[in-house]
Amino acid sequence: MGEPVPRYDARAKVTGSALYASDVALPDVAYAFLVTSAIAKGRVRSFDLREARALPGVLDILTHGNIGDAIRPVKFFTEGGPASNSVLPLGSPEIAYGGQTIAVVLANSYEVARDAAHRVLVDYEIDRPSATFASPGAVDQELATQNKKHDDPKVGDFAGAYASSPVTVDVSYSTPAQHHNPIELFATQCSWTGAQLTVHEPSQNVYGIKNGLAAQLGIEPSQIRVVSPYVGGAFGSKGGLTQRTALVAVAARKLGRPVKLVPTREQGFTVATYRSETKHRVRLGASRDGRLQALSHDGFEVTSRPDPYAVAGTDASTRMYACPNIASSVTIVRADRSTPGFMRAPAETPYFFALESAMDELAVALAMDPVELRRVNDTMKDPIKGLPYTSRALIPCFDRAAEAFGWAKRDARPGSMRDADWLVGWGCATSAYPTQMAAASARVSLFPDGTARVETAGHEIGNGLYTVAAQVAAERLGLPVGRVTVLLGDTDLPPAPVAGGSISTASVCSVIAQACDAIRARLSDGTTPTGDLVAALKERGMGSVQEYAEWVPHGAPKGAMGMLYRGAAQPTGGAKLQDRIQFAFGAQFVEVRVHARTREIRVPRIVGAFASGRIMNTRTAHSQYMGGMIWGIGSALHEETEIDANAARYVNTNLADYLVPVNADVVDVEVIMVPEEDSQVNPLGIKGIGEIGIVGTSAAVANAVYHATGQRLRDLPLRIDTLV
Ligand code: MOS
Repeated sequence: MGEPVPRYDARAKVTGSALYASDVALPDVAYAFLVTSAIAKGRVRSFDLREARALPGVLDILTHGNIGDAIRPVKFFTEGGPASNSVLPLGSPEIAYGGQTIAVVLANSYEVARDAAHRVLVDYEIDRPSATFASPGAVDQELATQNKKHDDPKVGDFAGAYASSPVTVDVSYSTPAQHHNPIELFATQCSWTGAQLTVHEPSQNVYGIKNGLAAQLGIEPSQIRVVSPYVGGAFGSKGGLTQRTALVAVAARKLGRPVKLVPTREQGFTVATYRSETKHRVRLGASRDGRLQALSHDGFEVTSRPDPYAVAGTDASTRMYACPNIASSVTIVRADRSTPGFMRAPAETPYFFALESAMDELAVALAMDPVELRRVNDTMKDPIKGLPYTSRALIPCFDRAAEAFGWAKRDARPGSMRDADWLVGWGCATSAYPTQMAAASARVSLFPDGTARVETAGHEIGNGLYTVAAQVAAERLGLPVGRVTVLLGDTDLPPAPVAGGSISTASVCSVIAQACDAIRARLSDGTTPTGDLVAALKERGMGSVQEYAEWVPHGAPKGAMGMLYRGAAQPTGGAKLQDRIQFAFGAQFVEVRVHARTREIRVPRIVGAFASGRIMNTRTAHSQYMGGMIWGIGSALHEETEIDANAARYVNTNLADYLVPVNADVVDVEVIMVPEEDSQVNPLGIKGIGEIGIVGTSAAVANAVYHATGQRLRDLPLRIDTLV
């Protein structure tokens, strides 16, 4: 464990032998194409399907008028259900958001299905939609009144302490809507064999789909198999049960043949979820030595009419620094939009842009070095409940990154580090992400030929799970890593939790280690533990030894394994525990160059140092961190889903207009892994690294832009036209 072993799945992926969901060739497959709503609010008065149906090769067209009660309602996930959007697929003529699926065309070829879909004529009754914050008709609600599990963190007397603080900042920020845009589209293929359904769909939660889809179709979960061995990018967008899966399953049953759906890039903007836009008000009060006396974070997030989705990042942003008086609130704003969902570091990405920008503004107000400001406010205790951090290496991360970056050479005066036509700025910010885990199960088999097999329905979403699963089994069984076969992403395997919340490696490696230890125990003769397991196996003349294990993390609810089998495992950890608090920490340092005349903003250099417990594989971990940091640059400078304020529809629904960083935007990325041992989080000491890399990057960029120019930009993305 810990070695930079090359990716287990690398060869299969680069040679094309890895079959993604839409690559699987099903015999006699029919093709589905979605017809999506051109309006955001109202209803379908009528369809004219004559021209579409007349096209040779068209097999059927599903609408609310003919689908009957084939799909049953299931609950939204905050109510314990599987749905990422609780609008019933083709459940009524009502339209709740732009891009809602209103018909499914089925044909013998993709081209005919697409052609026919464009010939479906829709007569709409149009209501005026609310697009976003402050749109007419948008409704503000306190999250705590909408989601019983949410509690606004607070301690002490914020108002009094803020009023008496000698140095204060009171600042507001905003972040835009963003879409994940994984390169692999939101494909689904379904085929029935009698009463058995097989679903090929890229997923971060195959057991979630299996169980949720069974409830939607009114069949037993045992009748459904979900297969997802490879996922071509997800980042949160493939974690929930979207509307499409049931529609494709119903279509396949109706036609009596397999059906394949590959929505377009544009449709992906509303077929799956997204990160919705947020606003923030942060108030900080400090004594002249920089110690925080008062901290308040009010967050505002857009969600849909039916679903109270919120990321509520105040859970983390109120717990980063020592402070005796803290207040927070989260307000959701209901608009006529599709329901948002998880996107890499869902809570921390927007909320740390606000918190860490405000900390930089406070440092300026105090005339204090921003690294020193983090140092004087460091704490080993959760300031809300006083619980101890299991480990916290924030300051070592700042020190390591600052040294690598050359921070000591920084001249603090804005605009002072000019290089010819370029204004040079250096900024930094804190990264953090809650260390969470969920119940997991796995089966490990050892064979006398010295090979082993690991089976668990975890997910390879680029996180490197195949590789680290092989590594932990190889080490625990005493085999070369190349002798271990790993099977993932299939509900015929023992369940593993959603690959989200940075929980996969910690949860899945823990249970694999446990199964391997059980194999060792079985091959031991009671007194002396066996050294060479393969030799012991041969000696006993056994054909194989196989162990199934279940692992439950600290603080998991009773019945966690049952919930795992039902596809509803709940991550636990972070700030949710009663006896302690668990986070990974990091520090990001950014150099920006702002052109003195054009105001073009460039990021030539970024350094991130992270302490996330045990690193299972420094090669895959490096990629995870680097990917997060690069995406952080994108969130600072490029990404925004533009929303038409009148139509409440997304405008830039393609990869030409939805900007993401390209190689020219990313010059020098340095990742530093700060060693950290944490024996409490789990026996292997793994904290999880999937999301922390993006957290705080956008604030570090904005702080650097301030340092370069003296202008504080508080709205993402930072745009050339907002710099004067
Ligand atoms: Mo992550 S946004 O929980 O896939």
